[in-house]
Amino acid sequence: MSSKVVAITGGFGILGEAVCRAAQGAGWTVVAIDRAGAPRDSFPDGVDARGGVDLTDAGAAADLFNAIVKQHDRLDALLNIAGGFRWETLEDGNLDSWDFLYTINVKTAATACKMALPYLKAAPAGRIVNVGAAGALKAGMGMGAYAASKSGVMRLTEALAEELKSTNVTVNAVLPTIIDTPQNRADMPDADPGDWVVPEDLASVMLYLASDAARAVTGALVPVTGKV
Ligand SMILES: NC(=O)c1ccc[n+]([C@@H]2O[C@H](COP(=O)([O-])OP(=O)(O)OC[C@H]3O[C@@H](n4cnc5c(N)ncnc54)[C@H](OP(=O)(O)O)[C@@H]3O)[C@@H](O)[C@H]2O)c1
Repeated sequence: MSSKVVAITGGFGILGEAVCRAAQGAGWTVVAIDRAGAPRDSFPDGVDARGGVDLTDAGAAADLFNAIVKQHDRLDALLNIAGGFRWETLEDGNLDSWDFLYTINVKTAATACKMALPYLKAAPAGRIVNVGAAGALKAGMGMGAYAASKSGVMRLTEALAEELKSTNVTVNAVLPTIIDTPQNRADMPDADPGDWVVPEDLASVMLYLASDAARAVTGALVPVTGKV
């Protein structure tokens, strides 16, 4: 039997690349999906990299998962990492941010889940792992639109887990605090990155939830907080 296949959305981003590398190391056949045209130079060889895909386009997403399964024969797991962030107060911010963050965080995940679902249900142990945010459990100042959108991802996770309880597909989410990324280091120069979540550590938790060993876990929202 061929090795298990995982599709990783946002696969060219900072967390996405770390998860692609970890999944490859764990023996998965890895497909990275991203709106960006091409990955960074550091991107691992051997990953099936599919750039230029906007996951808010349902038709494009349907065609994509169809093509992935045509090429690799199966799809066992979907890790929804595509997403984004904006810090804005309501008073000084732009109301369009609420639509922007909802679209980039919730709609991408819902669309990918829906289009991948027929293939995941056909797998022996289908897995969906989403990325919510610890900051959506209680929103701080400037976090309203972002927290609302990540709450949407978390509610999608819970609802879809219930919907799929009679199947072999589990649906879970990780809730990171602050990931150690170049962007966060630039935005918070006075903070100690040693307190943050290293992408590789978050990748380990996501790959555990995608593994056969996690078959009894579904609908879980797992905080991954580092020392924050
Ligand atoms: N960084 C943090 O501290 C933190 C904390 C909590 C949660 N998270 C979440 O963790 C995830 C990864 O974060 P990150 O820092 O690694 O972000 P990142 O480097 O910006 O990567 C996100 C990737 O998703 C892609 N993407 C966005 N919209 C898409 C769409 N419509 N279709 C396909 N791909 C799309 C982006 O492409 P473009 O470059 O073209 O936009 C980008 O390559 C996100 O969901 C984020 O909200 C991050």
